[in-house]
Amino acid sequence: MKARPAYDIERSYDENYRDGPFLDITPPQRKITAEKSFLGFQVNSLLGVPAGPLLNANWIKAYAQLGFDLLVYKTLRTQERPCHPNPNCMYLSQQRPLREIDFNRQLIGSMTPPDDPTLISITNSFGMPSRAPEIWQADIQKAKAGIGPGQLLIVSVVGTPGETDLKTDYVRAAALAVEAGAPAIEINLSCPNVLSREGSIFTDPEVSSQIASAVKNEIGAVPLIIKIGYIADPFKRAKVVAENAPHVDGISGINTLSFEVIDEKGEQALPGKGRLRSGVCGAAIRACALSQAEHLVALKKQHQYDFAVIGVGGVMTAEHIHTYLNLGVDAVMSATGAMWDPLLAYRFWKENTSDSNA
Ligand SMILES: Cc1cc2nc3c(=O)[nH]c(=O)nc-3n(C[C@H](O)[C@H](O)[C@H](O)COP(=O)(O)O)c2cc1C
Repeated sequence: MKARPAYDIERSYDENYRDGPFLDITPPQRKITAEKSFLGFQVNSLLGVPAGPLLNANWIKAYAQLGFDLLVYKTLRTQERPCHPNPNCMYLSQQRPLREIDFNRQLIGSMTPPDDPTLISITNSFGMPSRAPEIWQADIQKAKAGIGPGQLLIVSVVGTPGETDLKTDYVRAAALAVEAGAPAIEINLSCPNVLSREGSIFTDPEVSSQIASAVKNEIGAVPLIIKIGYIADPFKRAKVVAENAPHVDGISGINTLSFEVIDEKGEQALPGKGRLRSGVCGAAIRACALSQAEHLVALKKQHQYDFAVIGVGGVMTAEHIHTYLNLGVDAVMSATGAMWDPLLAYRFWKENTSDSNA
């Protein structure tokens, strides 16, 4: 039987927001320990779900009960923004890891899943939709109340180009999230699914650090994470990290890789203007994600940076979580893996009840 994801890719974003997650399992019991430390919080494990799959408080609560202890609330804006048209996710036929040499290739998308769920790669394109701040502020409070001991809620926000300048809007979004009670903030500097500027800030050392610095200045002691994408050039990557290091408590990455996706007939796979390109995630991006995580850990050691490295990209099994932890990252998060295998956290916990690496 093919695996059914908690986010139903046949339904619209709004239906998933209202009626999801679509889970047909009872959360298994596990022992709560809160023996790990992350960003100054005592947590049960160093495993979480990055920004994206957890659309609101109902999703946060469900995944917290499934044993994901670091829960990132999907990226929010200072204004209401609709989602791109359905479908927003498609399976990719890609079987092997994507490397830099592949970056100009077109990938083939379809609605048919592969047989082995651990090999799933998808493209996703939502455009960072958002409810209005008064709605999400109330929902953040509900999300906080819905998680258990030893679990951490992180709220992801993004600036929207428009009336105010982009930096000011990032600051405003973070301030609104903190006002609502967010214990930690992530700013998304990397989204391949928007055509405007907020999607590629992570590639610019100066602009990204100006935004990080302004947000940190606003939120003070509340931990700040920046979410970055894959930066192919190691010198540029080191520069982005160096410029941001003084302002941030964590660096999370990678976001999805940007690819042109077509269907089996050779036509644009996802409907609508500007959607030939979309973000690729899951199994196929693990190699790129691991190599960047390894570099961040090395830079951290070399320069004695004190930010946390959060490894994201292609985590589909408990073994992949260990691969990241063995590189020396401070935490690991799974989006695609956690959507198609909601028991991933439980499997990881079960494997680790007798050692201290979890
Ligand atoms: C359904 C979905 C929605 C996403 N939405 C966001 C988002 O709103 N903000 C963000 O920073 N990343 C978003 N992402 C990217 C993930 O946080 C993550 O960086 C990426 O999927 C790679 O991890 P994975 O291979 O485990 O999926 C989304 C990913 C998925 C699958």
